[in-house]
Amino acid sequence: MKLRQWSTVGLVAVATVATLNTVPATASRPYDPTTQSLATLGLRHGLHVGTAVNMDALNDASDPQYRRLASSEFASVTAENVMKWESLEPTRGTYNWAPADQFVEFAKRNRQSVRGHVLVWHNQLPAWLTSGVADGSISKQELRELLRKHITTVVNRYKGKIWQWDVVNEAVSDPWDTPSTLHYKGFWAQNLGPGYIADAFRWARAADPKALLFYNDYNIEAFGSGNPADDKTQFVYDMTKSLRAQGVPIDGVGSQGHLGTQYGNFDTLQVTAALKKFAGLGVATAFTEVDVRSQLTEGVQAGNAEEINPRLQASAANFSVLMKACLAVRSCLSYTVWGFSDNHSWVPGWFDDPPEGLATIYDENYQPKRAYQELKSDLIFAGPPYVLPRIAPRPRR
Ligand code: G3I
Repeated sequence: MKLRQWSTVGLVAVATVATLNTVPATASRPYDPTTQSLATLGLRHGLHVGTAVNMDALNDASDPQYRRLASSEFASVTAENVMKWESLEPTRGTYNWAPADQFVEFAKRNRQSVRGHVLVWHNQLPAWLTSGVADGSISKQELRELLRKHITTVVNRYKGKIWQWDVVNEAVSDPWDTPSTLHYKGFWAQNLGPGYIADAFRWARAADPKALLFYNDYNIEAFGSGNPADDKTQFVYDMTKSLRAQGVPIDGVGSQGHLGTQYGNFDTLQVTAALKKFAGLGVATAFTEVDVRSQLTEGVQAGNAEEINPRLQASAANFSVLMKACLAVRSCLSYTVWGFSDNHSWVPGWFDDPPEGLATIYDENYQPKRAYQELKSDLIFAGPPYVLPRIAPRPRR
């Protein structure tokens, strides 16, 4: 990778470290990093620790703790839902910008960077779009034009305000899908063919020359067999390599990081190796939606500590694995949790057989869990020579 293609956010980080190191520490009031936010501790490394934001929770006057933590603990924010197509254009041609505008304003007020989520995804599409395609009233050609218009309109509106855009989300199938050989899946691939991916990045770039443009997916934390027929990480790696070779303006790959304590998961070195391999393609990386859920057995639900404790510990360990790997690789720019408290997590609403939960870093009463403390200690105890300031790519033209 050519160094001149990269700009050094490291300089900012070094300046930040210098500032932090000048915090007056006296014998009576020594500098105590454990009292600092994840945001502040992450920025020591130029790393943006972020969260997804649920706008209903943010606007709930009876829940002030949510707003307090969302604004103070994180350096970066992602809209959990309000930038998705169904939310932005519920009726064809009529945009509902207010919630997304409010979200972007919130970030600005709190000096937080914004990850834009999401331009192209097969879920949370407006009904007028999917039903129009299903009944044939929207042709393939018109659909492609609608996608171009959507990307252009949304990226334009927030031009200059978005640090990283998730341009394409979850385009690749999983081994449990049919057919099991990995392939491009979902509404967009079925209707437009996989060429929509390159188109989407080009349209996003045309609308904002400065945002970092990401591909975002789950189950790509580490490489597996190395065979793209069953190794999703390899499939996404090959796709990214091919897009770069064609000159498509893709700047980063986001690894969502939705883990569960019931699974084997990975060790820090496996995850570090994957991030390094993506770095070798010249793209940035980020953990974009981290949470680590657990099965809520009858014992857990009854408050049995012997069942709860190992889950909380395993969850913390997995949060930490992803954080340490991210810290170790300079092109890993941000680490975003997908909601920060168990009372506002997508997990219980999604996984109910068996029920799952306990996925975030604060409990439902906003008490920090072990996972929060582990993330903090990872950030505090990291430094040279293994953890160095971040290096961000220049947006690719
Ligand atoms: O829009 C309706 C609203 O009108 C209604 O009042 C409300 C009542 O519950 O439901 C609303 O829709 C819900 C929507 O979130 C907005 O709150 C859907 O039922 C619900 O299924 C939807 O879930 C979201 C999910 O994406 C949808 O696929 C989750 O909140 C959100 O966390 C989740 O996020 C995704 C990322 O975008 C991509 N990666 C995976 C991640 C987790 O699934």
